[in-house]
Amino acid sequence: MSEVPGGHASSNDHLDERLDEGLEETFPASDPVAVHALRKEMLMLNADAVKNAERRRMAPLTGPTQLKREATRDIAGALNALLADVFALYIKTKNFHWHVSGPHFRDYHLLLDEQADQIFAITDPIAERVRKIGEGTLRSVGQIAQRQRITDNEADYVSPADMLAELRESNLQLLQGMRETHSLCSEHDDVATTSLLEVWIDEAERRVWFLYEAGRTERTG
Ligand SMILES: [Fe+2]
Repeated sequence: MSEVPGGHASSNDHLDERLDEGLEETFPASDPVAVHALRKEMLMLNADAVKNAERRRMAPLTGPTQLKREATRDIAGALNALLADVFALYIKTKNFHWHVSGPHFRDYHLLLDEQADQIFAITDPIAERVRKIGEGTLRSVGQIAQRQRITDNEADYVSPADMLAELRESNLQLLQGMRETHSLCSEHDDVATTSLLEVWIDEAERRVWFLYEAGRTERTG
């Protein structure tokens, strides 16, 4: 067995040895032509596999899609902004879930927890949709902060009525972003994203409805 510079046996040497052992077991020694032909074929297949693996390592992180690059870039931009907004709304909803107080504590605490779960559940499908169309998605809390359009609320105290009103506004803002993204995806015939958005728009409208009705008691009571 030959040694490559540095004293290590090359991977081709190991392959040769393994091939020889395997071929001796599979074929009778009386058929050297068949052994030689098969040996050559297997070495060529291995060379192709190595070349393909190298090509895959060097390829950019893009995925297969029938959408044009211009479309995927625009859709990914809209979806990543939406994803940042969804994370911002999730944290705001949880923030109010944790800090709400007053006579309706139990109702609001539970309502906001339910809404936060629903909001969080769409983060992964949004990010994976971006990856499915071959683009990159968010990688950090810092990138969320850069892209979010829904503002945070770090006030020490927010009244329950103001919490419900602010969440209603933030959900309406998210709805607006979803509708705009839906229009963009429709233009590019990205039916999978529009289909997902239609469900999320319905869910957001339900959240707005509940926040509105729950807030009505606060305003009159
Ligand atoms: Fe909780």
